[in-house]
Amino acid sequence: MEVKKILILFSLSFISAISNEIDENLKSFPADFEFGTSTASYQIEGAWNEGGKGWSMWDYVARARPEAIRDGSNADIACNSYHLYKRDIEMLKELGVDNYRLSIAWPRILPYGRPDYVNPEGIAYYNAVIDELLANGITPFVTMYHWDLPQNLNEQGGWITDEIVDWFGDYARVLYQHFGDRVKNWLTLNEPYVHCFFGYGRGSHAPLRTSPGVEFYECGRNILLANARAYHIYDEEFRAAQGGKVGLVISMEWVLPLTDSDDDVQGALDYAAYHIDHYMHPIFSEEGNFPQIVIDRVAEASANQGLNASRLRPFAQEQIDYMKGTADFLGLNHYSSKYVYRNSSVEGRYDVPSVEDDIHVVTYQPPSWPSHGFIYEYAPGLYNLLMYLKDQYNNPVVYITENGFSSDTGLVDDGRVQYMRNYMRSVVDAVADGANVKGYFAWSLMDNFEWSFGYTLRFGMYQVDMDDPDRTRTPRKSALVYKEILRSRVIDYSYDPDPYAALPDAAVAYYAPVMLNLIVLLFNLLM
Ligand SMILES: *[C@@H]1O[C@H](CO)[C@@H](O)[C@H](O)[C@H]1NC(C)=O
Ligand SMILES: *[C@@H]1O[C@H](CO)[C@@H](O)[C@H](O)[C@H]1NC(C)=O
Repeated sequence: MEVKKILILFSLSFISAISNEIDENLKSFPADFEFGTSTASYQIEGAWNEGGKGWSMWDYVARARPEAIRDGSNADIACNSYHLYKRDIEMLKELGVDNYRLSIAWPRILPYGRPDYVNPEGIAYYNAVIDELLANGITPFVTMYHWDLPQNLNEQGGWITDEIVDWFGDYARVLYQHFGDRVKNWLTLNEPYVHCFFGYGRGSHAPLRTSPGVEFYECGRNILLANARAYHIYDEEFRAAQGGKVGLVISMEWVLPLTDSDDDVQGALDYAAYHIDHYMHPIFSEEGNFPQIVIDRVAEASANQGLNASRLRPFAQEQIDYMKGTADFLGLNHYSSKYVYRNSSVEGRYDVPSVEDDIHVVTYQPPSWPSHGFIYEYAPGLYNLLMYLKDQYNNPVVYITENGFSSDTGLVDDGRVQYMRNYMRSVVDAVADGANVKGYFAWSLMDNFEWSFGYTLRFGMYQVDMDDPDRTRTPRKSALVYKEILRSRVIDYSYDPDPYAALPDAAVAYYAPVMLNLIVLLFNLLM
């Protein structure tokens, strides 16, 4: 097993080097490949206290701990998609997508988290969005939970209490009942690692808890069980009548050993075990359960720390069986890769106990990789990751549910254009080499509230003017490039559209800054 993994790790870089030499003009997507874009409820909807919605734990953080957000902002209004969803869907039409991945705000449906009261205005809002999508020929992919937990449930323990498995299952049932006649592609939960690490480990996301060695693991455990509960409820109560599919979204980085030393190679395998296999293995492997290497390492570290039990609470056999196979497809979020190394500079570097200390490597992203914010571009990482999943997990059906690059404001986003082309080329290569990738969703349709970064990082193919009460959306260069890829199904590196020329008032937008400078110049001359 370990030897096989090492061989895979090395051979993959070689394969991707070869496939990059294929004539670029031959790089086209299969005819049935599906394209889309993604958003999430808290990041775009606004209307935080309208339409009968309850508080989410992010609404609570925005009020109680605004300093947790870099620019002191919040998502009370965000893109105002609660009121502007028709414009969002018009943009999806402009791009020509097949699919749209949106999320449902749990506290908009169940203001107090539990199904004893279902909010009719919340149901009506998502009915309107889903119906408008379908009327425009766009297939909804619906995430049930993208981090906006009802605050009431957070106060009762949130993701670190075992009861949340019941709470989540009951919520999922409400969604199937109300929307399952039209929604056929469900994603239960978004990014267990990121949610548990930043929410319960590092305290930079709601609910701002800092227990990277204990609660981080409890959260991941409960998310896996909650996913399984929602999956089984669909199987037992809805699948026969509704005939849809249920998957989940797991975020993964690709990892490379900095050198070919045994320590660095083992470090890379360990990093992959904690970041990738920790969530993949219980669901997508034949044997189920957490990866053995993670079980053993956390148990050993816990014993060394004088604890009487492993900080990674073991699953019972019936739980292992219950989780196996509980995804009809994988939603893969992928942004960046990392190098890792393991030498004495790891010692004393991390909190004890913590998942970083358990993994025991130092990570490194070279300055030669183009970067913006926390995203580093290394497109071969996506190819290698897709081949790893194919080889390790019996080639599961994959939708890439997020991939994208941040930028500043402005319409000429060449960094994002380059990133998007290179990563999409990796997808074409992986599909050509047998990876079962059915679709790609760009993150994101438009600029939105980027969690602890507030509005300081922009991930949109459409720029959103956050100072404008109308939250005007304007296509960037990347939107025009994406649209052309979807139309032609070819990644044409020579296509170089002008986002200003595409505007209705192109001349004004283009010449206005020039005119303004002239006026200022004249004014200065006259004074
Ligand atoms: C382990 O320690 C904890 C806290 O110190 C205690 O509550 C628990 O009962 C102990 N468990 C066992 C199996 O001894
Ligand atoms: C560990 O490896 C890194 C990367 O090669 C190197 O920069 C660092 O100096 C090494 N640390 C020690 C203590 O050897």
